Amino acid sequence: MKLPLALLELLSDGDYHSGQQLGEHLRITRGAVWKQIQTLMSLGIDIHRVPKRGYRLCGGIDWLNVAAIKSFMAKSLADKLQMEVLKEVDSTNHYLLQRLNQPSGYACLAEYQSAGRGRQGRRWYSPFGSNVYLSMLWHFPDGAATLSGLSLAVGVSVVEALAQYGVSQLGLKWPNDIVYQQQKLAGILIDIAGDAAGPCHAVIGIGINVALSHTDNIDQAWVDIQRIIGQKPDRNAIASLVLQSLLKALPIFESKGFTAFQDKWRAVDRLYGQPVAVKGATQTEVGIAAGVDLQGRLLVRNGEQLHCFNHGEVSVRLNT
Ligand code: BTN
Repeated sequence: MKLPLALLELLSDGDYHSGQQLGEHLRITRGAVWKQIQTLMSLGIDIHRVPKRGYRLCGGIDWLNVAAIKSFMAKSLADKLQMEVLKEVDSTNHYLLQRLNQPSGYACLAEYQSAGRGRQGRRWYSPFGSNVYLSMLWHFPDGAATLSGLSLAVGVSVVEALAQYGVSQLGLKWPNDIVYQQQKLAGILIDIAGDAAGPCHAVIGIGINVALSHTDNIDQAWVDIQRIIGQKPDRNAIASLVLQSLLKALPIFESKGFTAFQDKWRAVDRLYGQPVAVKGATQTEVGIAAGVDLQGRLLVRNGEQLHCFNHGEVSVRLNT
């Protein structure tokens, strides 16, 4: 669905605006203004409508902004980082997959994704102006096999970045759900293009719940940063910390692989020692989660047997 962006700009101050005033600015009728308001509301944007006062976008919008994001970084890093902030896009991952000629570290953020994608073919609920949706491109010269454990390493980096913002006690549920007290805060989706044996490209997509208002569209226990820290978060600061953390971690992963992240993973592994059920295409295995191997595969102990699972093939839940 196309966003009425001009109307959003007018409402983004969070003040009341009458239908007449909005119509005059936009050179449309009050009826057309109402239609656009309905579109915004159907997209999960919280708008109050009060007779005689008009419309108010609750909380206003603090737009994502390249200069603000870079202002939280050391100048040397900010000068190097190439990025785009889009008002709307189908999916930031899809957007970068069409721009594989850009250099490693090229990033893209969006205020809204009309077709945000989650793992295992699910949709990622991406309402306007309230969360962080970002993707970063990275080139790996030696083929897709060198990428095993990448999504776990990225998970560790996101947890570290959010801890720097003051969101502590986060953990990871294998392979890369970022959780707070068993509720999902953020997710990671990595798309890989190129050669299995030669140069390949990873588009690393991260979605972080920052301040969700409408949540009917989420089918699992969730949480957002606003609820954890009890105040309105700054999306530009959060995006900046996550980008910096990735820019630090990805060169290390490129040269050393997941080994360099295994200890950090252990410290945040929320499944370790828990009874789990691992659901594959044809059967479900149960056992006790026993960490991950050097490729980032999940290890599950069942009596004397140790099974290992690749992500993408299975889904895991606590078996309590
Ligand atoms: C998951 O299912 O846990 C992964 C969610 C990943 C969502 C992010 S939002 C930015 C990027 N663009 C997408 O379409 N998906 C990822």
